Amino acid sequence: MKKQFIVAVTVSAVLGISAFASNASAASGKRLFMTCTACHGKDGKSPIMPAYPKIAGQNKEYVLQQVKDIMSGKRANGQSMAMKGVLVTPTGEPRFSDEDLNVLADYVSKLAP
Ligand code: HEC
Repeated sequence: MKKQFIVAVTVSAVLGISAFASNASAASGKRLFMTCTACHGKDGKSPIMPAYPKIAGQNKEYVLQQVKDIMSGKRANGQSMAMKGVLVTPTGEPRFSDEDLNVLADYVSKLAP
């Protein structure tokens, strides 16, 4: 279980960096969402751990707020630390622009729940 978790974090961190390095503002939600699938599942509803949430079809505004809160550390319970590492660099720089987050939240909200 622990090993699986570490692999997921590593894979998603790598994907996160590549999504950021490419022209992120032009990237589609689908491509940006690749950063999220390692934990939340390709369809946004098959998380790798029972304690990880299904997010497909969630309201856009809610998704955006949760992602921003996890990024900033406002939402900081034990589980959210796993996700924060993917959203923010080790020195605290966000990996996603506001525009990316907006595109992402829109994409997540349109996935079939
Ligand atoms: C390393 C694993 C991991 C990755 C990658 C990840 N998340 Fe998460 N995410 C989590 C966990 C764990 C939680 C639950 C946090 C908690 O317990 O509060 C969460 C919570 C969320 C929530 C809040 C759900 C709710 O019902 O409150 C949203 C929205 C979300 N993630 C979206 C994303 C998006 C979008 C991405 C891609 C940019 C992403 N996540 C990438 C692990 C991850």
